Amino acid sequence: MKLVRTENYAEMSLEAGKIIVDRVRSNPNLTLGLATGSTPKGVYDYLIHNHKENGTTYTNAKSVNLDEYIGLSAQDPNSYHYFMNQNLFCHLDINENHTHIPNGAANLLEQECLRYEQLIKNLGGVDLQLLGIGQNGHIGFNEPGTAFSSRTHIVTLAQNTREANSRFFNSLEKVPTHAITMGIASILDSKEILLLVSGERKAEALNKFVNGEISEQFPASALKYHKNVTVIADKDALKYI
Ligand code: GLP
Repeated sequence: MKLVRTENYAEMSLEAGKIIVDRVRSNPNLTLGLATGSTPKGVYDYLIHNHKENGTTYTNAKSVNLDEYIGLSAQDPNSYHYFMNQNLFCHLDINENHTHIPNGAANLLEQECLRYEQLIKNLGGVDLQLLGIGQNGHIGFNEPGTAFSSRTHIVTLAQNTREANSRFFNSLEKVPTHAITMGIASILDSKEILLLVSGERKAEALNKFVNGEISEQFPASALKYHKNVTVIADKDALKYI
């Protein structure tokens, strides 16, 4: 595991953005694994800026997202579909049909999980997976206690995850109780992983990740089994390290 120390959120985003652009330029057909939340926003801004200024093209690239809330349509401003369109896809030349996000509004959710897992396989797997981390160590929406062997599945969101994400909703009650997420095993299949960690509210989680044990009670610790992980963290998140 490689740890890149940065001064602040902007520098963290820049370092991650440069790596992604490098991979897209050397392999224009790649499949990017993308994440939502406040952490990757700066990286997405960098990719948009770089696309406009330097012409990095995404016409042959594909993307798969980690997760989606159950019960929100793609048009719902709090859905991850909406987030990705607004914050990234609309601003790049990526083909909309090449961007994939689990369908949280599917009628048959178990089937949707199987479809999504198969889709990733059909794409040849994820070349570069971008990840954030929850304060409880979750990756995607894999909450503490998730089996490391898990594939795309339905989860009941932890109360502290719903509370943390309620900042995007009008009230806690509006935060969905369930989500679809790629599993830990699905994530570990990615050829390369970039984990971004920013801010003091993630300092404890980062410390646990770097210095703690590998345990299903701390989902991100599974990344220690992966051979090509780069953690890019800012000073505030590195407070205890
Ligand atoms: C969310 C997402 C995760 C994300 C994490 C951290 O619930 N499902 O993919 O990494 O929580 O979010 P943030 O970057 O806003 O701190």
